[in-house]
Amino acid sequence: KRHLLSAADLSRDDAELVLKTAAELRELADRPIKKLPALRGRTVVNLFFEDSTRTRISFEAAAKRLSADVINFAAKGSSLSKGESLKDTALTLEAMGADAVVVRHGASGAPHRLAHSGWVRSSVVNAGDGTHEHPTQALLDAFTMWRHLAPSSGGSLDGRRVAIVGDVLHSRVARSNALLLNTLGAEVTLVAPPTLFPVGVESWPVETSYDLDGVLPKADAVMMLRVQRERMNGGFFPTAREYSRRYGLDGRRMATLQDHTIVMHPGPMVRGMEITADVADSDRSVIVEQVTNGVAVRMAVLYLLLGGSEPAVGGEE
Ligand code: CP
Repeated sequence: KRHLLSAADLSRDDAELVLKTAAELRELADRPIKKLPALRGRTVVNLFFEDSTRTRISFEAAAKRLSADVINFAAKGSSLSKGESLKDTALTLEAMGADAVVVRHGASGAPHRLAHSGWVRSSVVNAGDGTHEHPTQALLDAFTMWRHLAPSSGGSLDGRRVAIVGDVLHSRVARSNALLLNTLGAEVTLVAPPTLFPVGVESWPVETSYDLDGVLPKADAVMMLRVQRERMNGGFFPTAREYSRRYGLDGRRMATLQDHTIVMHPGPMVRGMEITADVADSDRSVIVEQVTNGVAVRMAVLYLLLGGSEPAVGGEE
């Protein structure tokens, strides 16, 4: 495959290949020297039109650990402020010889436009587009679930129950996870207040519920989502207090989980809103591990898209 634009681009075999490749590359994180020559001479451009901490930094770390050259482009401080279009920005990157463009954009569909416009020859990786998709987040989430819940399965999550809780309406993470987790055999339940489900959720491969307390005891993994107030144009119903009371994960609710159940959050979190600090910092929380796994998964994606030389993690540096 040339691009990664949607979790729906991945067949089960594709997804399991990414996860297995990431598992090999993940071993590097525990070594003093974390670098491989697999993408030497290749150029990866991080093209971020929207803010990011985890995704931008982990793509940069991933590319550098594979010895690619990395160019970081942030909209702030660029000629976009002078009215330059996506097309002219893309043509500029093409002229600089990018092999892969990792793009985050506030507009749903922008990475598809870049990939299918003919403006660039490079591979395009969607690093989050509007409220649409964030496929590498879903891959790192699936990787984290696999290692905790089904370590001997080869990447499948057959029969594992995942609750995704919160502002599904604005969440590209929820959509990509729903698609990928279904591909990998998991059973997904989305939990949200009625005002925070998207139109058309009936066609997603998931169950839906308004009742967090009813869903939690059955879940193997609970993924909390941030309430994205910046996408709400000032309106938010229910109120923040009511939201936390009904849909926040606190210590009392955490006590109703099964012993093996993990608590996840893609970040950035709003402590005290969708998750309390004691839950975020508890032994069940794999939130920091998700970030570490994100580097390995993004290395695997870049490596597989760009067809690098053998990663040979088991061999010489
Ligand atoms: N999870 C995630 O996409 O975080 P950032 O917005 O910090 O990249």
